[in-house]
Amino acid sequence: MRPKTGIISGSGAYELGANVLEECEAETPYGRPSSKIQIVEAGKNRAAFIRRHGPEHTIPPHRINHRANIYALHSLGVENIISIGSVGSLKEWIKPPAVVIPEDYISPFRVDTFFDDRVEHITPGFSEELRNSLKESALSLDMEVHFGGVYLQTLGPRLETKAEIRMYSRFADIVGMTVGSEGTLSQELGIKFAAICSVDNYAHGIGGVIPDFQEILKRAKANQEKTKAIVLNFLEKYQ
Ligand code: HPA
Repeated sequence: MRPKTGIISGSGAYELGANVLEECEAETPYGRPSSKIQIVEAGKNRAAFIRRHGPEHTIPPHRINHRANIYALHSLGVENIISIGSVGSLKEWIKPPAVVIPEDYISPFRVDTFFDDRVEHITPGFSEELRNSLKESALSLDMEVHFGGVYLQTLGPRLETKAEIRMYSRFADIVGMTVGSEGTLSQELGIKFAAICSVDNYAHGIGGVIPDFQEILKRAKANQEKTKAIVLNFLEKYQ
């Protein structure tokens, strides 16, 4: 049975908590994915799981080979990709810890593509069907999520200046370093894509906060259970 859904996880989750059936190395025309791919079992369904920062969290955001990650999942025949990631909040009312299923993204700084040798232009956006399924999954577990909001992707690896965050907060609600790249590439290969974001800090200057990356990482690990539970439940019942 082929996996229907690909899951890419970030700083919080190094394992999904599902039974691992096999782990395979993949090679793509774009190089190797960030980690071995785990084929996991969730209820009667299967999913393919990649850790975007590598098994030991050694690949920084600006060095992630998103094309290899997405292409490897595509080669396994997935129809959906769900991106789990850590974000900072750009709004005081999105108070960490929280979970956001964003409705759109802004990513003008890094635009990844598979279309280097042909002229083709997708119109980017998340899959409403997948977003709704993730919401259903959260509701059925009695978990509160923010359903909506705009994700802004920065290049990283540094966090942002206060002035940058002041600017971004006028146009977006959460800030992270990956979703735009993964979403665009998935869509280019005809794969439905949605993101589920763990809000682990206020971005620089929001509510007077000065974020620290080690602190964010600790919080991301502590907060991962909720996003993982929503995704696992999605895999079992809603995909
Ligand atoms: N900025 C960018 N990326 C992030 C942040 C942040 O504050 N928190 C988690 N990922």
